[in-house]
Amino acid sequence: MNIKPNDERVKELSKILLKHQYLYYVKAEPEISDREYDALFDELTKLETDYPELQYPDSPTKRVGSDLDNTLPEVEHTIPVLSLDKCYSTEDLTQWIEKVVRLAEEKVSIVVEQKIDGASIVLYYSNGILERAVTRGNGSVGNDITENVKTIPSVPLHLNQNIDIVVRGEIFIGKKSFQKYNAESGGIYSNPRNLAAGILRSVKSSKAAAVPLDVFIYEGYIEGSDFSHVEILDYLDKMGFRINQQIGYFSSENKDAEAAKNLRPSWFFGNMNDIESFIEQKQKQRSSLDYEIDGLVLKVNEIPIREKLGYTAHHPRWAVAYKFEAPQAVTKLLGITPQIGRNGRITPVAELEPVELAGSKISRATLHNQDYINMLNLCIGDTVTISKRGDVIPAVEEVLEENHDGNKVWVLPDECSECGTPLKRDGAHSFCTNFFCPERVVGRLAHFAGKAGLDINGLGEKTVRFLFNKGFIKTPADFYNFNYELLLDEEGFGEKKINLIREGLNKSKNKPFPAVLTALGFEGLGKRTVEVLVENGFNKMRDILSAAKNKDIEAFALIDGIGDVLAELFVKEFSNSHNLDIINRLTDLGLKMEYEKKDNAKDKQIFVGQRWCVTGSFENFKPRDKAKIELKKRGAAVLISISSKTTHLLAGDGAGSKLSKAENLGVTIVDEKEFLKMIK
Ligand code: IVH
Repeated sequence: MNIKPNDERVKELSKILLKHQYLYYVKAEPEISDREYDALFDELTKLETDYPELQYPDSPTKRVGSDLDNTLPEVEHTIPVLSLDKCYSTEDLTQWIEKVVRLAEEKVSIVVEQKIDGASIVLYYSNGILERAVTRGNGSVGNDITENVKTIPSVPLHLNQNIDIVVRGEIFIGKKSFQKYNAESGGIYSNPRNLAAGILRSVKSSKAAAVPLDVFIYEGYIEGSDFSHVEILDYLDKMGFRINQQIGYFSSENKDAEAAKNLRPSWFFGNMNDIESFIEQKQKQRSSLDYEIDGLVLKVNEIPIREKLGYTAHHPRWAVAYKFEAPQAVTKLLGITPQIGRNGRITPVAELEPVELAGSKISRATLHNQDYINMLNLCIGDTVTISKRGDVIPAVEEVLEENHDGNKVWVLPDECSECGTPLKRDGAHSFCTNFFCPERVVGRLAHFAGKAGLDINGLGEKTVRFLFNKGFIKTPADFYNFNYELLLDEEGFGEKKINLIREGLNKSKNKPFPAVLTALGFEGLGKRTVEVLVENGFNKMRDILSAAKNKDIEAFALIDGIGDVLAELFVKEFSNSHNLDIINRLTDLGLKMEYEKKDNAKDKQIFVGQRWCVTGSFENFKPRDKAKIELKKRGAAVLISISSKTTHLLAGDGAGSKLSKAENLGVTIVDEKEFLKMIK
């Protein structure tokens, strides 16, 4: 039996990897290089693949997610997951503090924390191991999203001690990460909070793993302890949780603050009179943070006083949220229109009584999806608040007053409102699956001509919709063949506008191949994926089409950053006769169907047509990705594993199984010295 040594090694590797994940993601103080980390990770993955019985629920490999479907069952919380009472002015806050001090009847301290604007989560640990991650839901029942949460590197999969503990926290995505991810996804997410909440409900945890989610833990429930809140936070921190360090502690007795300073020198300590200026200062810092906060939370520090103050059904009386004002307005919900995106996704849109908000007149706001509507209990006729967060699309935030017409919570119809096709639910969203649904066609045409596509002057969404409704334009090529003179009699189509469109269309013929590929709007082909394809040898439409025609899924799947799911989609999209017709017609019209590199790069294209794989470590390329960049710059495709199609293996020190596989397959093996000569 050699199971035991393997089991021991798995446990040892897990321990080491979890420690380094913690140092890297929670503490931001890595102790080993990426390469060393990768080697350990690869070793553990291999053992787990070879011996599935050694896959433990807290394995650090869970961080990469899986392609298996998660369903999101409902589970009951073992603690009441309450919300927070809110206040909006410092006067209200002062009153709240005074009341707490009065009711406490003993010395009391207040902790001020940032109110993170993300998705609320409850983590259940049993015997030190993360057993379950559950959304807040309605406070007593939430959705089990454990598999998705396990992919978040700053969520500990197991703790430093084998204890049973429940913690609450907020999952969020940083502002910069949000911008990057949203741009790559075609700008479909209105703000970081909705992206985080949406991704956490993904049916495949590999999807969650692809988004840089993060967590802050702010409450811990430890049975039998007599810790105060700050002591709990300190304890949670030591246990491996990520705790927000922007904390203020304010005591009704000065000497307490002095004593508490020893706990965490980085926290702010003061007396009750310091709260107001602390809040002012925190409010000023808001815009410079890399994550969204929508206020501050004030909490009583002493647990016995918390118990004394008690709870309402909705919130504890020992805490209050001081909300920063997001530009908000109050209006009435007149109706809800399901909007159909080009990929078929349905977004319910609120039709509102027009109202001024942050300088513009608003009559529509997003409702995201049915779950969001259910969460708000939203009915037509309700009086609602709407807000604009981070200057993006306005959203309906909450119901202020229920309607008096007896309307019930609005429910998305079973069929597409445009074409009648039954809707299909996938994760949090519903989809119209009819490729030729008129709304989807308009969406594709508007994408082709819009900012994310070829950005053609004069062909904004309104014009595209008009041209489609009139029956003039059905596919992208029609834009180029249509005689715009015919529109001179139509309102809004003067000589000037028509010239603008013509000029825009001519310019679009010079847009580079990646822009054309993105403009096609095929499934899975966002801007970032197009870049990856083009960088890895697919810089001619011809080559893409021939790989798709030969059903050569591997040719796409082996590219770093593509994978099986996208590869299958590409083969489907680029062999579908409707799409081929679009491509042929655009080719005939003279749109760019291959990528011409700039002149200064031309003489360096020494690896064109070659398919390289990189393994081991290198003196001159640290991290290894630097070697991949050199290869791609010179036209090579860089693949993640060796196959019969690989032409070259760049092998560094410690090259393992890839080297022997390459040798067996007769792949040309290049070492670092030789490689340096080649690229000189
Ligand atoms: S304490 C029983 N602390 O705000 C007390 N909540 O609007 C529970 N939130 O559902 C909440 N940052 O998701 C607390 N530092 C913080 C928080 C925080 C964000 C969220 C939390 C809660 C919501 C209430």
